[in-house]
Amino acid sequence: MIRLENIAKKYDLGGTNVSALDDISFTIEQGEFVAIMGPSGSGKSTLMNILGILDNASSGAYFLEGHNITSLPDKEQARIRNRHFGFIFQSFNLFPELSAIENVMLPMSYAGIGFAERKQRAAELLDRVELSHRMTHLPTMLSGGEQQRVAIARALSNQPNLILADEPTGNLPTDKGQEILDILTELHRSGTTIVMVTHNDAQGDMAQRVINIQDGLLHSEVRR
Ligand SMILES: Nc1ncnc2c1ncn2[C@@H]1O[C@H](COP(=O)(O)OP(=O)(O)O)[C@@H](O)[C@H]1O
Ligand SMILES: [Mg+2]
Repeated sequence: MIRLENIAKKYDLGGTNVSALDDISFTIEQGEFVAIMGPSGSGKSTLMNILGILDNASSGAYFLEGHNITSLPDKEQARIRNRHFGFIFQSFNLFPELSAIENVMLPMSYAGIGFAERKQRAAELLDRVELSHRMTHLPTMLSGGEQQRVAIARALSNQPNLILADEPTGNLPTDKGQEILDILTELHRSGTTIVMVTHNDAQGDMAQRVINIQDGLLHSEVRR
C-alpha cells in the first residue's frame, strides 16, 4: 500500500543542516498494524508527517498504491490526505471553536459531502466512540479521553485506508489511554491499516510489526 524508498529529511537552521531522517526504506501493507518506536527526538514525528504527506521529504521516493506521489502539487497532496488518511495526534488537535460534531463533519465538507449526510455520518461515528451525549460540546468542555475519541471519529469520517496515530495516548491517563487503544485494535480487526507511534513497549506489543528509529535511521524491524 505504501512504499518509502531512501527517504531523508534535513532541516536548514540558518546555515546548519539538521538531519532528522536518513535513508529510510520500508513498506506498509494493507491491513497491517505497525508501531513506530524510538527515543525522543529520533525522528518519529518527522516520519509520520512524511507518511501522512503533511510534510515533504528532502530526498527519496514515496509510493502510494503503486503511484509515485513524491512531488505532487500541494492541492493534489491535500486531496490524497483528505481521502486516504485519518490523523490522530498526541494533543488531539481539535478546532476549539467547533463542537464535537462539527469537528467530525469538517473533513467530509472538504470531500464535498452534503450537509445532511455529513451530519448523519458524524453522529454515527460519535456514537461508535460512545459520545452521542457530547455532540454539541466544545473541546474545552470535554475531558482529554473524550477529545481523543472525537479526534478518532474525525479521523474515520472519510473512511480512510490508513490511520496515522502519533503517540495517541501520550496525554492521557492509563485507563483512558487503554480505551483509545481498544478502539484502534477494533478498527484494525475490521480491516483498517494503522501506523502508531508509541513510547510504550506494551503498546508496541499490540502491533504486528515494530519499526525502531534511532537518530533518524531505521535501527531495526521486528515482525510478530
Ligand atoms: N521544524 C523543524 N525544524 C528543525 N528541526 C526539527 C523540526 N522538526 C523536528 N526537528 C528535529 O528533527 C529531529 C526529530 O524530531 P521529531 O521527528 O519530532 O522526533 P520524535 O517525534 O521522535 O521525538 C529532532 O532533532 C528535532 O529537533
Ligand atoms: Mg514526536
